[in-house]
Amino acid sequence: MTFTPVDQPPFAITTPLYYVNGLPHIGSAYTTIAADVVARFYRLMGHPVLMITGTDEHGQKIQRTAEDRGVSPQEHCDEFVAGFERLWGLLNIDCDRFIRTTSARHNAIVNEFFQRVWEQGDIYKGQQQGWYCVSCEEFKEERDLLPNQHCAIHTNKPVEWRDESNYFFKLSKYQEQLEQLYAEQPDFIQPEARRNEVLSFVKRGLQDFSISRVNLDWGFPVPTDPDHTLYVWFDALLGYITALQDPSDPPSLEQAIAHWWPINTHLIGKDILRFHAVYWPAMLMSAGLPMPKRVYGHGFLTKDGQKMGKSQGNTLDPVALVETYGPDAVRYYFLREIEFGKDGDFNETRFINVLNADLANDLGNLLNRTLKMAGRYCDGHVPDVDPQSIATDHSLRAIGTALPKTVFEAYTHLAFSQACTAILALVQASNKFLDEQAPWSLYKQGKQAETEAVLYAVLESVRQAAYLLSPIIPGISNQIYAQLGFAIDFDDKAIGQQISYADHAAWGYLPPAQVLGEASPVFQRLELPEPVSSP
Ligand code: MSP
Repeated sequence: MTFTPVDQPPFAITTPLYYVNGLPHIGSAYTTIAADVVARFYRLMGHPVLMITGTDEHGQKIQRTAEDRGVSPQEHCDEFVAGFERLWGLLNIDCDRFIRTTSARHNAIVNEFFQRVWEQGDIYKGQQQGWYCVSCEEFKEERDLLPNQHCAIHTNKPVEWRDESNYFFKLSKYQEQLEQLYAEQPDFIQPEARRNEVLSFVKRGLQDFSISRVNLDWGFPVPTDPDHTLYVWFDALLGYITALQDPSDPPSLEQAIAHWWPINTHLIGKDILRFHAVYWPAMLMSAGLPMPKRVYGHGFLTKDGQKMGKSQGNTLDPVALVETYGPDAVRYYFLREIEFGKDGDFNETRFINVLNADLANDLGNLLNRTLKMAGRYCDGHVPDVDPQSIATDHSLRAIGTALPKTVFEAYTHLAFSQACTAILALVQASNKFLDEQAPWSLYKQGKQAETEAVLYAVLESVRQAAYLLSPIIPGISNQIYAQLGFAIDFDDKAIGQQISYADHAAWGYLPPAQVLGEASPVFQRLELPEPVSSP
């Protein structure tokens, strides 16, 4: 049976395009997991969805990294891109478009865009003097530097003095228009704290920024003056547009923005907020393109309370993490444990405790023991109970009825942690309900109808929880649905066309008398790895 949803508008979401100077770090994994969760939630609701990720491959940082490795920049990029693709596969993330900024089609879009801005009279040649952080690929204002001329983000790297002839973009021209955008579209920058940061930065007065570099080959030549190379950020932001077009069509700016533009959500980390919330909209204004709907700047992750970094020797390898614990565990921990938008910490003991408590005990054990009872007391079927006959103030029905609204709001506001907490509250209430009602005693007393009523309410609550958690833990949700007797794959991108969101998100959907699947643990308890003993 196929279900045809009502028309839902398209939804496009992006992650940053990651620098390929190294293998993906946990920060890149964090944003990409979040983007995948949002994409999955919109797909579940039946929206056509385009999730974009990719790699930012030009610029000095990449060029230097390649030189240090003794390979050409292109060879270097080709090699490292594979590491990103591999990690997304391990994390059960299947993006719709993977854009590489070194692709020829991207060059064509960049040239067209440059031409538009040039024709607006928004590009001019000038002299750029200032401190440059190669790791940020950004000129820094003197007042933002640490006392010893080091970047505040890359504290182990000195900034470099530059005095060169560059092309500039007239950002200052867009001061008023930007302020108007922030006022008219108050949700454009989220969360609120980041919005305030941008507002005060813009209020100080915008300065034009240079969009080309000399003495750098690794990038696209400036179309009007090939002795200059386009600044990596000017080129990279445009990757979001190139990605919109079907890669089999000839590249064209007009065609690229015909379907998915404007992008609904740009997910980024807080360190690249200015580029996305100030430079990017101004570039789009200059080219006469409509504004994206939302730029969301999430917080930074630390490990055991410490800033992560190669020099600190405390990086967290996302590949090792997912290979040890599996994709659902990693996805769940970061979204459940850290309030999206705020900084958050990774600590392995906490990681294990959260997963064991929520997924192994509360959710997994609940399903397992209830299914076993249904096997024994109801002959392996969903109890034959009409959900409408359950009182509206039944403790689980009441929670389950209120849940879809809370969860919808949480996901659409990217409040993943709130979504998890609300869903887990139903699961916890179900455990309590089961213990209080003790269906094993009811059954022994020959109270078949009462036994079935209890088991139905619990199984239905687990089903609803699994459905609403499916964007975060699709693997576990697939197993739960299969054990409840459904043949549904939450990894199928057409899920929103196959089953109705309105039906499945609501409490009371589990078909009475449906044949149940085999009970088996959906999440194995995790053990803390043995500490490495010193010799
Ligand atoms: N190439 C640019 C983005 C261009 S988008 C057109 C870039 N790349 S990056 O690889 O350096 O960073 C990618 C993302 O990782 C950024 O959103 C950044 O905020 C995020 N993170 C880097 N370290 C992080 C943590 N420790 N924690 C969370 N996110 C972090 O910037």
